[in-house]
Amino acid sequence: MGAKKLISNKSSLNGAVKVPGDKSISHRAVMFGSIASGVTTVENFLPGEDCLSTIACFSKLGVRIHRDGSHVTVEGTGLEGLQESETILDVGNSGTTIRLLMGILSGRPFHSVLVGDQSIGKRPMTRVTRPLAQMGAKIAGRNDGEYTPLSIAGGALEGIEYKLPVASAQVKSAILLAGLQANGMTTVIEPEKTRDHTERMIRMFGGEVTSEGNAVSVQGGQKLTATHVNVPGDISSAAFFLVAGAIVPNSQIKLTNVGLNPTRTGILDVLKAMGADLSIEEYGAESGEPAGNITIKTSSLTGTILSGNLIPRLIDEIPIIALLATQAEGKTVIKDAAELKVKETNRIDTVVHELKKLGANIEATEDGMIIHGKSSQLKGGIVSSHGDHRIGMMLAVAALMCREEVFLEQSQAVAVSYPHFFDDLHSLFLI
Ligand code: S3P
Repeated sequence: MGAKKLISNKSSLNGAVKVPGDKSISHRAVMFGSIASGVTTVENFLPGEDCLSTIACFSKLGVRIHRDGSHVTVEGTGLEGLQESETILDVGNSGTTIRLLMGILSGRPFHSVLVGDQSIGKRPMTRVTRPLAQMGAKIAGRNDGEYTPLSIAGGALEGIEYKLPVASAQVKSAILLAGLQANGMTTVIEPEKTRDHTERMIRMFGGEVTSEGNAVSVQGGQKLTATHVNVPGDISSAAFFLVAGAIVPNSQIKLTNVGLNPTRTGILDVLKAMGADLSIEEYGAESGEPAGNITIKTSSLTGTILSGNLIPRLIDEIPIIALLATQAEGKTVIKDAAELKVKETNRIDTVVHELKKLGANIEATEDGMIIHGKSSQLKGGIVSSHGDHRIGMMLAVAALMCREEVFLEQSQAVAVSYPHFFDDLHSLFLI
């Protein structure tokens, strides 16, 4: 596929966008629906490639799942009803699918083989396989279990208390999903609080989970019951429009039905700290998850520092925050974010490399980046998503600020989390 010509040098963006359903919650709705008893219905499911990989994997494990656009019905089999797949389980580009699935399969008395795309093949898995092996699962993979293809021989598990070496909701969730099947209590202690969608979903499906400080515990042997899940919009997708609205002149954008779970709203804190003109109208919890509307207007911004326990609350938004910082007065420092190196791409490298091509004053550090804002207007060029959806969308927003033409290679990557991203962006040009 050739490079996509992006719209550059925009003088205004106006209108409203209803971003698609939250990716993390959509994955979990299908997974919990599968391992619960009864029929779960999911509204506003994200039909992005990642979540479709989750549906494909659970279908192969014998769960009947029907999807009509963003409406999904899952005929839950209960944990005991999952069946050995006759073929390999392909997670595509999805880290959430593979890691959470490993937690579920660890307790199932059959053999599974998991593969993914090239990017998945480079992502660290021992952070998940090590605690699951401690619980009793037999997992093998390339490089001592670090990389796919992975094979899992599941069976009886023992509960553990596990201190996570890195703040990761995927690892926490995998251990909790194994813990639901283990003997006794399983406790995960996080170095910093990460997104708590798994905990909320266990409760929604009638299970029990306790949280105390950064420790989360589940008792094994719980039975989950089907429910209705209404997925709020993805704040990680809204983030691209929040930044576009703040940096493009003469703009006002309203994002409707956005998930406002406090473990995910770090981007709003950063926008406020940088002086953005935004208003939030929260209207309550959709399926145990808070949601609301956000309006953003063109803003005059100043640099800031991002570090510590803020990082897990905005980890996926760092590429677009880096772009935001190029349009602020002064310096922005992002630190404590070494996890960016093991995302869909090494996002410290890809963000710095691609924004530099457009003339940004940005440098990589060991655990983040430093951005010197507003030195000159971004220019044009040929940029690449490197197959990373969030890098692709960030570059499409960057192009709006470029004085010359911008071409994006591997633009199709956006479909991983936001299939209609370009249509929604273009709808803001009409008014
Ligand atoms: C996710 C957790 C985060 C995040 C990813 C989705 C989840 O990953 O970056 O996009 O749904 O649990 P880590 O657990 O690797 O931090």
